[in-house]
Amino acid sequence: MFPDYLPGPGGWTALGFYREAGQEVPVGFSKKTIGVDRVGINCAACHVSQVRRPGEAVPHIYLGGPGNTVDILGYQRFLFACASDPRFTSHHILKALAEVVDLPFLDRLQYRYMLIPATRKALLREKAQFAWTNTRPDWGRGRVDPFNPVKVAFLKVAVGDTIGNAEIPPIWNLDQRDEGKLALHWDGLNSDLTEVFLSSALGDGATLKSLPVHKLQELQDWAKTLKPPSFQALFEIDHTLAALGQPIFEQHCARCHRFGGEQTGKALPLTNEAWGEGLEGNPAGPLYTDPHRLGVWTPETLEAFAAYADDYAWDFKQFRPTVGYVNVPLDGLWIRAPYLHNGSVPYLTELLELPERRSQIFYRGHDVYDADRMGFVSEGPEAEHLGSRYDTSEPGNSNQGHLWGTHLSDTEKRLLLEYLKTL
Ligand code: HEC
Ligand code: HEC
Repeated sequence: MFPDYLPGPGGWTALGFYREAGQEVPVGFSKKTIGVDRVGINCAACHVSQVRRPGEAVPHIYLGGPGNTVDILGYQRFLFACASDPRFTSHHILKALAEVVDLPFLDRLQYRYMLIPATRKALLREKAQFAWTNTRPDWGRGRVDPFNPVKVAFLKVAVGDTIGNAEIPPIWNLDQRDEGKLALHWDGLNSDLTEVFLSSALGDGATLKSLPVHKLQELQDWAKTLKPPSFQALFEIDHTLAALGQPIFEQHCARCHRFGGEQTGKALPLTNEAWGEGLEGNPAGPLYTDPHRLGVWTPETLEAFAAYADDYAWDFKQFRPTVGYVNVPLDGLWIRAPYLHNGSVPYLTELLELPERRSQIFYRGHDVYDADRMGFVSEGPEAEHLGSRYDTSEPGNSNQGHLWGTHLSDTEKRLLLEYLKTL
């Protein structure tokens, strides 16, 4: 009924969702009958990647990968716009429904007097709950502010001026991140996989009472089998160069980024000051990436979150604030683009350059991959047409910091890059 509220033609695909042939709903949506048929998002709305080689028509789909194309806030705003439209009435919607489905009389009554008015009301309520997103930089494709909506909807804590925009991370190799081995979330605020799964489901729309704890455990067991796709499945690697790049990685990067590295999975303080008193500066050198995402977990929020599920057997006990971002494992690194927690660096080649030489403005959300620069094509007419404009000068979008590797020679960078393709 409302194609004009979508960013382009193609229905849900205009928002970056993928439609498999023959499926009723796009990847990331599920249909369930609870009284009536309902459609809702699931984990795959965000944790599935789409990748095309230049010239390819149909993307490769990778379960557990970062949702590089999806515009989650765009999806919500689309629904809000529909609900605000004067045509969102039982009369108009039932007329449109009649063109595609022959509803029994009793169903029509239920839709007319209950479901359509209730849906409109719920969407308008949510629109009001999301008003804070209108006054800060857009999430854009592939990014979500995951915790601020939870504050508003469940915790009744004010968003204030915080900005939690975060790149959607992959969720593969979770078996190596379970049992507190490596902190989860960009800021490492929890190391308990079960709590992260439960809180993720709440973020997606479950409620305390509806939370399917046992099903989520099954999901978690299954998710632990997800592995990253290899770069070589789509592109070539020069193994001679990669072998020469490995020692460079071992020397400069492995301690923070290899599974089993001495600092891998720990939150690295953002600034020297954050190391606190008694420490003589940060031995690793300061990280200095954008601080905004860290500020989301105010003391008030943590307190409310800790108390939130007190009456339930499963409760949240492990959430804690940190003063930096996690030394993330780099598994499936090629698909993690754009890089860093805020997705501020489009290409891996650029992360190995000083911030002033990184793109200042680019477009996120394209699925065509540039194998030489290791990232999704982020400029040019197609990327600009499809993508969300990303301006690194906006709050929360800074591409500063993470200077490791920037001092290497061009030859060393070339070798290191080839090795990074093997991760
Ligand atoms: C609306 C998008 C969205 C949906 C849907 C979603 N996630 Fe996430 N997920 C994210 C984002 C964004 C992060 C990173 C948040 C941060 O730390 O700032 C994340 C982080 C995670 C992490 C931690 C990964 C890491 O490397 O630290 C796990 C595990 C996870 N999600 C599991 C799930 C599960 C399970 C579901 C379904 C119940 C789910 N997510 C649904 C967006 C989503
Ligand atoms: C002292 C620890 C440390 C060292 C050494 C280090 N990094 Fe990092 N790296 C980090 C942290 C912390 C982050 C997350 C920062 C953020 O997102 O703001 C990160 C993020 C990254 C990312 C982005 C990952 C993603 O999913 O977006 C890449 C790529 C990366 N580092 C590559 C390297 C390379 C290559 C080297 C060696 C030249 C290196 N790092 C050295 C700590 C380190």
